[in-house]
Amino acid sequence: MSFLPAPDPLLSLSPAEREAVCGRLLADWFSIHARALPWREDYDPYKVLVSEFMLQQTQVETVLPYFERWVAVYPTLAALAQADEASVLKLWEGLGYYSRCRNLLNAARAMVSEGFSLPPPDVEKLRSYPGIGSYTAGAVASVAYNLPVPAVDGNAERVVARLCDVALPAGSGALRRRVAAIVSGMIPEGGARALNQGLMDLGAAVCTPRSADCLRCPLISCCLGARRDTPLCRPLPKRRADIRGIKAWGVLGLREGACLLRRRPDKGLWASMWEIPWFERGSDHFGSDFEDWASPYGLSCSSYCDVAQVSFSFTAHRVRARVVACEISAPPALMEAGTWRFVPAQELSELVLPAPSRKFWTALIENAVLFDEMMGRC
Ligand code: ADE
Repeated sequence: MSFLPAPDPLLSLSPAEREAVCGRLLADWFSIHARALPWREDYDPYKVLVSEFMLQQTQVETVLPYFERWVAVYPTLAALAQADEASVLKLWEGLGYYSRCRNLLNAARAMVSEGFSLPPPDVEKLRSYPGIGSYTAGAVASVAYNLPVPAVDGNAERVVARLCDVALPAGSGALRRRVAAIVSGMIPEGGARALNQGLMDLGAAVCTPRSADCLRCPLISCCLGARRDTPLCRPLPKRRADIRGIKAWGVLGLREGACLLRRRPDKGLWASMWEIPWFERGSDHFGSDFEDWASPYGLSCSSYCDVAQVSFSFTAHRVRARVVACEISAPPALMEAGTWRFVPAQELSELVLPAPSRKFWTALIENAVLFDEMMGRC
């Protein structure tokens, strides 16, 4: 087996070790245990691109049904580029991190407008499109085109950190750079696709976060971590961002059989999406908290009742929301602002909503008695 020249600055494995690792991982293990994933059937670069966008921050099992539906509706880059944003967002609903979906659409449109019918086989060019960072560019280039570049996801990072006993914190830039350098030096000629995916699959199946199943691992005899008994300590634990707990009110504002939605800001979490509003709880009394929150918008409510307790998380926040259904009166000025609207109850299920809003709405419709009573009253 011949290897590409290893890049500076680092070469943690000797040439003999690299050869042993690749032989054991690829010939002995990946050739038998590779996961049968739909984008691996033909490595169509468009499908690989879609899979990589979906797999950002999301597990393979969750992605599979979304991927199948997506390629059935948009089988080519050109078909995707012609789609409208509302339709692609609808297909993405439930996968979360919706900016990935908009970025995928905008990347496809940019590629097609530049005359490409497939994502270009060039890491730097790939990186110039929305939503494609160094990981995704490396993954598309190596998985779709077998170009000799690293693609290190969290699973591969853990495998290599244990294999080479790299004592750096999970999620750190230092670990990512170090592992990418090691993997670059390991790629056998013509073997980038297999090596990158072999490391990912080994991390998903054997060398898992909480249990390193070393006796089933094809790399046990070359693993520095196993020799030193450090696998479960590698990589080092993440420095935990301080988790902030938030108590909130979720507001199902009802009026004439419709529910009040607020448009989120154009930047940040759930950017530009319509949501069922929620705000931080100041007390245990909804009426007075609602007045403080709502009066700047000219909103008032005449009656309200408890619906459910709903929890959700984003970045380093954990929110516990008490969801309240209330009867709203809204002046026209509020509706003209472009940040508020009432959506008829029967249209809400069609709308793409952030996960917390979907939970709020589901909590109401699952309580059929309350739902009928509120809809009759409001
Ligand atoms: N995660 C991201 N890309 C992947 C791939 N091609 N195979 C398995 N897991 C992945």
